[in-house]
Amino acid sequence: MPLRTIITGTGSCLPDRVLTNFDLEKMVDTTNQWIVERTGISERRIGADGEATSDIGLKAARAAMEAAGVGPEDIDLIVFATITPDQPMPATACLLQAKLGARRAAAFDISAACSGFIYGLSIADGMIRSGSARRVLLVGAEMLSRVTDWQDRSTCVLFGDGAGAVVLEGTDDTASGVEYVRIHADGTLWDMLHIPENFIRMKGNETFKVAVRTLEALVIDTLRENNLQASDITFLLPHQANERIIRATAERLGLPMERVIMNLEKVGNTSGASIPIALDEAVRSGRIKRGDRILLEAFGAGLTWGAALIKW
Ligand code: COA
Repeated sequence: MPLRTIITGTGSCLPDRVLTNFDLEKMVDTTNQWIVERTGISERRIGADGEATSDIGLKAARAAMEAAGVGPEDIDLIVFATITPDQPMPATACLLQAKLGARRAAAFDISAACSGFIYGLSIADGMIRSGSARRVLLVGAEMLSRVTDWQDRSTCVLFGDGAGAVVLEGTDDTASGVEYVRIHADGTLWDMLHIPENFIRMKGNETFKVAVRTLEALVIDTLRENNLQASDITFLLPHQANERIIRATAERLGLPMERVIMNLEKVGNTSGASIPIALDEAVRSGRIKRGDRILLEAFGAGLTWGAALIKW
């Protein structure tokens, strides 16, 4: 059985339509200045009419598979992290499997909101290292615009649509790969952030405070459990919810912002898609290089949270 799980390809897809803060000024009582100062977000992408989560997931998956040099028949598990599935049933992973022609793959969705990618990484790593799957396609994709109340200024400025994907495989080379992944939940706080009927409802300020506290403890625990110092981390790659939350986490670690991967200014909060999109951009631009150690972390509805360490 393989000793480690490595990411052999990354991909992402952002819908074409850009919705700027200035567009939002015309829709709700807000200002570009408020949104930038309170969140760090300037614009986000919105899916086209008729464009489904599986469609953007497919584009991200194809890019990741091309980068990994694998074909549809090489995939034996598809894990799809989303809270905006095409339909409640079947799993969006199954729709993606059909679109890809990945006939050998088992397929299922996971619902862990903004922590979906870390949850999926934990599953993929476990399946690969136990010998249950050789090659896993992990996708995080969301059409949050469909569950956003465009009259609620406290939430509609935050979210965006997008998809990211990675291909994971086993290796016996312990010099690289997933070094650590840990996931958590606290369902007693389910009503901080939920979709009671059609739209996202959030206790924004309370969620903000719990997010900051939880993530600060999470990254410190991650270093301690792995006997690492902040200087051993090349990049912090956080879930892209709010620049102030990200800065607080980086400060707690003592990491300068040059070592933080942040793209929320252009994409907003894309929930389960946010980490794989930011990862793909950083890999393709050459910012992440072989040998770098990346600390991933996420926090979101559930509540759920988790962290991972990857040696690239
Ligand atoms: N434009 C202008 N004013 C706005 C606004 C907007 N888009 N949204 C809210 N406000 C107002 C509020 O009505 C409030 O006004 P009041 O003081 O007159 O009542 C004021 O701004 C402050 O609101 P508050 O909710 O306390 O602001 P905040 O500093 O907490 O920022 C969020 C709001 C949503 C940006 C912030 O709480 C947040 O990012 N929360 C967590 C998001 C998150 O991480 N989600 C989970 C992970 S996915």
